[in-house]
Amino acid sequence: MYCRYKKRTEGKKLNQVYEKLLACYECVRKKTDFQPKVAIVLGSGLGDYAEHIKVISEIPYSEIEGFPVSTVPGHAGRFIFGYVDKVPVVCMKGRVHYYEGYPISDVVLPVRLMKMMGAEILFLTNAAGGVNTSFHAGDLMMIKDQIAVFAPNPLIGENIDELGVRFPDMSTVYDRELQKLMVQAAKDNGIFLQEGVYAQLTGPSFESPAEIRMLRGMGVDAVGMSTVVEAIAANHMGMRICGISCISNLAAGMTANPLTHEEVQEAADMAAPNFKKLVTETVKRMAAE
Ligand code: HPA
Repeated sequence: MYCRYKKRTEGKKLNQVYEKLLACYECVRKKTDFQPKVAIVLGSGLGDYAEHIKVISEIPYSEIEGFPVSTVPGHAGRFIFGYVDKVPVVCMKGRVHYYEGYPISDVVLPVRLMKMMGAEILFLTNAAGGVNTSFHAGDLMMIKDQIAVFAPNPLIGENIDELGVRFPDMSTVYDRELQKLMVQAAKDNGIFLQEGVYAQLTGPSFESPAEIRMLRGMGVDAVGMSTVVEAIAANHMGMRICGISCISNLAAGMTANPLTHEEVQEAADMAAPNFKKLVTETVKRMAAE
């Protein structure tokens, strides 16, 4: 895989973003030759998902030179390599967010790296605010589509031709077959699953009630501060993508309570058992994909 990426650039000056990516890849490959099929990004509430994995090896992000390391409490970062049932996976325990001050190319570097390791499928998870008035705190929502216009596009700048085309199609970012798998996995396990559109805003401030009303008018069902830019970068590289939001709270203005990070974290932790079950049962079914 690495050769494929490197070879095509011979004789050409490397793009700096790509150069950093290749350096990180080289660093990872010195530590493990594990070939994942599915890359899972663990959002709030899934922090201890490693318990559900037969772990083969781990790499703390801090051991990968140049890799962006999260500054948010509760997002301590490492790659976990192993198996969910028979499916080889790489999990990101902790992701970096744009609001931490990293360039957007750094925010999506880990996802690109996991594709280079061999992952064909990207499973994105997050905690999100419910914008749809029929949602409740603790609901799980399958992401059917996304709104990216409030976050910087990670493909801005010179196109990295080795990764994908200049103008990638975005008409089916979330893979239809994977959505069917997830819906069936939820049904078979008696897990209630909402469906909807996720919008990423930059944060770190939560939204105002007026912003939430605007988002609802635009067709947004859940709002958060991650995921969309990662999906754009993964789609650019041809990954098949699926995603789940854990609705940790109703968004601003929908209840009398002000929002706090702690409350969001606690609610995400409460929904964690079903969340983990759904991730596991969906990934298991990816063996045949
Ligand atoms: N807004 C943005 N991001 C979030 C929220 C929210 O209400 N809840 C969890 N992440």
